[in-house]
Amino acid sequence: MSVAPVSVATLAAMKTRAEQIASLTCYDASFARLLDTAGVDIMLVGDSLGMVLQGHATTVPVTLEHMVYHSACVARARTRAFVIADLPFLTYSSPQHALESAARLLQEGGAQAVKLEGGAPMLETVRHLSQQGVAVCAHLGLLPQSVNRIGGYRFQGRDQTSAQTIRHDALAMQDAGASLLVLECVPAALAAEISQTLTIPVIGIGAGAGCDGQVLVLYDMLGINPGRAPSFSRNFLATSGALDSALRAYVDAVRHGTFPAAAETPY
Ligand code: KIV
Repeated sequence: MSVAPVSVATLAAMKTRAEQIASLTCYDASFARLLDTAGVDIMLVGDSLGMVLQGHATTVPVTLEHMVYHSACVARARTRAFVIADLPFLTYSSPQHALESAARLLQEGGAQAVKLEGGAPMLETVRHLSQQGVAVCAHLGLLPQSVNRIGGYRFQGRDQTSAQTIRHDALAMQDAGASLLVLECVPAALAAEISQTLTIPVIGIGAGAGCDGQVLVLYDMLGINPGRAPSFSRNFLATSGALDSALRAYVDAVRHGTFPAAAETPY
């Protein structure tokens, strides 16, 4: 594994070489050091911190202030992995609003890219950010910030119409300048097809093994909150016994395509 810092170019080259990208969420400096040492390629400062750190039922209460703080904690400790920070709910309601929020995550939070949820309504924002030099990770499929509108956390893209929307939005996001795409909770066949079509790396969560890489919520893959882990996750600590070996086991399983297995691929 190269110790050179990971950039969007590194991630694009990994896709070209068909080398799987290993990503985990990360919210603090101590874990950032452990993840970096284990060879994780992307540390996502996810707004899932609202649930796993703050104890909320959803990501909706997470503020930009929270995200800047946690992103800075991670970025301070990072030596190799690429750091992406989530734009939290209602902090990107217009292209200009998104740019102001992204500026804080990049300049104060030390992130290298921002992630935002949504399809067609977000295209202008993605275009604006990328034209201003901001690396953007788009997020399609299940959109946790919209839980109150959707009415729950459900797999997306299971019927032809919604699959077609996700397919179309994925290409449009790439055309608008997104550097990466996260696909959450969509059928494996759809995720694999999109990954093959797009030239930008596609990172899956609950989207099967056919993506260009995988991401999990760190606390899920360490088995914290037992009983609440999603069906597509795996407890790597249970079989490894120590944090560092659990993280290395995750990276190895992603690289070798043994995670997710069929049992961890609901659709
Ligand atoms: O916030 C988060 O952890 C995420 C992942 C689920 C992709 O967005």
